[in-house]
Amino acid sequence: MSSIASNRISAAILFLLSLPAARINAQQLIPMPNGITAVSAGTTIQVTALRNDILRVRVWRGDAVPEDASWAVLTSARTSSVRTVPEPNGFATTQLRVTLDDQLRLKVSDLAGNVLQEDAAPVQWKGSQFTVSKTRTATDHFYGLGDKPGPLDRSGEAFTMWNTDSFGWQSYTDPIYKSIPFFMEINHGRALGLFLDNTWRTNFDFGRANPAEYNFGALDGPLDYYLIYGPEPKQVVTDWAWLTGPTPLPPLWSLGFQQSRFTYFPASQLREVAERLRKDKIPSDVLWLDIDFQHNNWPFTVNEQAYPNFSGMVQDLGHEHFKLVVITDLHIASQPRIGYAPYDSGLAGDHFVKNPNGSIYVGKVWPGPSVFPDFTRAQTRQWWGTLYKTFVADGVAGFWNDMNEPSVFDGSTKTMPDDVQHRIDEPGFRKRTTTHLEIHNVYGMENSRATYDGELALRPNERPFVMTRASYAGGQRYSTTWTGDNSSTWDHMRASVPQLVNLGLSGFSLAGGDVGGFAGSPPPDLLTKWIELSAFQPIDRDHSAKGTRPHEVWTDGPEQESIRRRYIEERYRLMPYLYTLAEETSRDGVPIDRPLFLEFPHAIENGTPFDATTGGSEFLFGNHILVAPNPSPEEVAPYTIHLPPGTWYDYWTGERYTRAAKSGGPLDLEQRDLVLAQKTLTVTPTLERLPVYVRGGSILPVAPLTQSTSEVPVGPLTLRVYPLAPGLNTPGETCAGEVYTDDGHTFDFRNGAFARIHFTCSMAADGSMSLAIGKQEGTWKPWWTQYRVEVVGWTPKEGKGSIDGNKSALTREGGNWGITIAAKPDGAKIDLR
Ligand code: GLC
Repeated sequence: MSSIASNRISAAILFLLSLPAARINAQQLIPMPNGITAVSAGTTIQVTALRNDILRVRVWRGDAVPEDASWAVLTSARTSSVRTVPEPNGFATTQLRVTLDDQLRLKVSDLAGNVLQEDAAPVQWKGSQFTVSKTRTATDHFYGLGDKPGPLDRSGEAFTMWNTDSFGWQSYTDPIYKSIPFFMEINHGRALGLFLDNTWRTNFDFGRANPAEYNFGALDGPLDYYLIYGPEPKQVVTDWAWLTGPTPLPPLWSLGFQQSRFTYFPASQLREVAERLRKDKIPSDVLWLDIDFQHNNWPFTVNEQAYPNFSGMVQDLGHEHFKLVVITDLHIASQPRIGYAPYDSGLAGDHFVKNPNGSIYVGKVWPGPSVFPDFTRAQTRQWWGTLYKTFVADGVAGFWNDMNEPSVFDGSTKTMPDDVQHRIDEPGFRKRTTTHLEIHNVYGMENSRATYDGELALRPNERPFVMTRASYAGGQRYSTTWTGDNSSTWDHMRASVPQLVNLGLSGFSLAGGDVGGFAGSPPPDLLTKWIELSAFQPIDRDHSAKGTRPHEVWTDGPEQESIRRRYIEERYRLMPYLYTLAEETSRDGVPIDRPLFLEFPHAIENGTPFDATTGGSEFLFGNHILVAPNPSPEEVAPYTIHLPPGTWYDYWTGERYTRAAKSGGPLDLEQRDLVLAQKTLTVTPTLERLPVYVRGGSILPVAPLTQSTSEVPVGPLTLRVYPLAPGLNTPGETCAGEVYTDDGHTFDFRNGAFARIHFTCSMAADGSMSLAIGKQEGTWKPWWTQYRVEVVGWTPKEGKGSIDGNKSALTREGGNWGITIAAKPDGAKIDLR
């Protein structure tokens, strides 16, 4: 038993002596200051409260107390505790009640007595393997589990966590690249998160084998899980970020449009792509280089024949406002004694994983025979970070960690053999050697962590950018991600929505899928629709496999190109909004693309998540914008869009849709309102239109168009106001918005060099509008010196305006009435009538 655990238990026993005897006899119940330990028939369960709404459950047999350490959970969170109130057979916090029965079955309820979760059976053990089963009803919905394909709601499905290189995966393929053993259960509007912190091969079954149960288990390793109570789903997501850390604020350029291909070869091809993007005025920020830019596919080398004067090329691209991201796969070519520094220095530092007999493990990947860094050692990660020195000096902006499941081409398992030896040398963990079985699922995350930390060490005041393919829970702290080798099919485009939404709920707010599909060649219309959709996805990167038809924006002629350009342009206009969302996620973990239930948890009276009505095809881009792609994107027939309660505006036309409030009453509708009796709209799909709606009560910050985020926009920041019509709003709705800005790439915002400004608005019964621009927080001077306030779908009755009480003219621009005002740090009060 670890000394920490035994100290805790003896403290608990002392505490027990001061309490009335527990009721259950078949077991030993040991109240603790922050929970309870119970023992029955050689099994121990310990339930502790980290907070009043977060519990940790650990179960073990005999003396085998599992090591109290985690790759995922922040130490600060893991060591938090609150005082609990002992109760017969359990305890209570200020929000939850925990009870154990005589077979150590756990039940968690809220204080009103609603059962949130209940063990269906005692934990089942088979050797070191365990299964925990919980009761399930038909009204349970499950979300999360990272990049797993399939429906948004995991109910009725079963999954395995084992990071796997899955070229050409399909909706039924499991497992794929990532292992994020975290999900959220929603029942009758009450959300409870569950995280199984176990890095071995784990399994989840949400009622597939037995509809009356859901269960999870692992092949080996600790039975250690966390329960995260909402009841609002947004609270669970925020708490997940508290537990495992949020996505850091990314560099602004990474939110721009990104162009990649396997591979732009030689350098002249990359330069041509850059030139064409600028010539055709496709706003874009990032170009990517895939494996062929390297010498013989050896990581950290450059093929000097094909890419002469590499640093000069990076600089030239920089002058054109392009950042370059290059691939640096984790496998190091096994090339001893020929001066390949990553191999030589890795060998000298003993940084490679080994076979059980002590020899270095060699597996075949892109470079041929390769060796693999031992990323679970802090000193190996530190060494890995130093390998980036030259690329960083060359001005390469970000790095791509691929193949890190790890993928291995030879051997039957597509990865390292189970008995490969990894060393754990990591603060908080016992220093020890273990097999690949324990490390496999965290290997990719530790690779991306090494890259992130390495970038940070080399450029301490620049925000690192890493994109990884494999990861584990908590990986969002180090890296963005993408969904791997998808296919150029209509179904894969459709599937990117639930996949990215579930990734966002699992912590990876910054995620994307290869736009246009990786494997195969998208027909022109598919590529166009995909570029439309990805304009509203957090990472927008067009990427394709070798040997496929090129899919750069201009590929299919001017008509397709102009539609595609229009959507990318819209993304750039919305950049202030998108960056504000990225900053929000960096504080509270609320993802950029989110399911509708996150903002409208009570839209359906019985608590069914609203997304059950859309099948997961719609999503919210931040809290103000709803995107409604065709659920059958290859079809031309009209389809139904479901809008949550409230007022909605068509993003493109400004047309207003209002759902009548249930309480009824005479509706003071303007002529142009369309009342949504059934909360649905029917649209006929067209190539050039992706239906997008803005929630009434939103104020969107919109910028003048630029060709890259490195350009300073010229003109005012537009505040596009979508008012709530008086008498039509749903109770609790407010009219508000926000903008956040800073220098876009350093950490100076931590010292106050940022600007955050809140906006609020209201419409009076006489149809006049007032808007308040709040006082700026932070010391950063934003790029705008003026605001253009424009009110969508609103006609002034008097045609008069005032700013802080001084008269000012109303003008009509682009169809909307508004006013232009100087931006002052103290804010302003605006009146329009
Ligand atoms: C893997 C990646 C893909 C990349 C290719 C070559 O298949 O998933 O994105 O282009 O390797 O590096």
